[in-house]
Amino acid sequence: MDDVMDESRACAPGPTGDNRPIGVFDSGLGGLTVARSIATALTHESIYYVGDTKRCPYGPRTEHEVRSFALQAGRWLEAHDVKIIVIACNTATAAALSVAQQTLNVPVIGVIAPGARAAINTTRTRKVGVLATELTVRSGAYTRAIQNLDAGVDVYGCPAPSFVDIVERELATGAHLQERWLESGDIFDTPDIRAEVARTLTPIADTEVDTVVLGCTHFPLLAGPIRHALGAGVRVVSSAEETTRELTDILQRRGQLAAEGVEPQHRFATTSDNLAAFAAAGSFIFGQPLKSIEHVDLPELERLYRR
Ligand code: DGL
Repeated sequence: MDDVMDESRACAPGPTGDNRPIGVFDSGLGGLTVARSIATALTHESIYYVGDTKRCPYGPRTEHEVRSFALQAGRWLEAHDVKIIVIACNTATAAALSVAQQTLNVPVIGVIAPGARAAINTTRTRKVGVLATELTVRSGAYTRAIQNLDAGVDVYGCPAPSFVDIVERELATGAHLQERWLESGDIFDTPDIRAEVARTLTPIADTEVDTVVLGCTHFPLLAGPIRHALGAGVRVVSSAEETTRELTDILQRRGQLAAEGVEPQHRFATTSDNLAAFAAAGSFIFGQPLKSIEHVDLPELERLYRR
């Protein structure tokens, strides 16, 4: 036992100072909820974000298709010299995490294991709801991740096929987003959206879950109407903070945290043709202006991985 403990001490964090960016990827804007948590906790780290807005949503697609999109984005980020990749999309994590870890030459983490940990740390009744895209629910990835931590937890998957579109559509208004947000406090908490959210949540509202995990990185933007539909007795958790903790641990262990005092240089890329709308919506979610945005051509991505 002592020997084992000595071995683990020998693997203690090395010197810090890898200032290369952290690659973060999502089907669109939702992953910026995770990027924001990373930027808030790791203030010296630079982020290189890719949002595949043109092919969003991923949820209704096949696993095969989403896997190839995720590998394209992973290779693109790898070619841009990131030190680690965060798949900030539950759907892409469900479809592609293990193949991305095997295929890419940098470490890759997803958001489902962290989301599962957040749920397990919160539930008291051991009944958990998972609100996610169709593909994520169908994959069973959350059920496996939660029951790997506690096999006695009952997991109720609830597909929310319209939520990603609601978020992306609402955010596509771009230009007036900041003012509307300041005026109303929550642009997503409208009677129409409340009604759609309540309808979608009916299957889990009828169970005895005490915790619902937002198994899609777009859904924290709908937290207001979701909380309203579930009522005060149900805790709503997301994977962003747990993902940031896991990322921090890995970078620390590998001696790859950026050097203290480094000024982060965040960069953003999107397959959308409307960079202005992406900038406006993205700044709102990320919580600071997206200063550097570039367009990525789909043919450029497709060249990197053909299924
Ligand atoms: N943010 C993605 C997720 O976490 C959205 C998926 C989609 O594009 O449908 O699952």
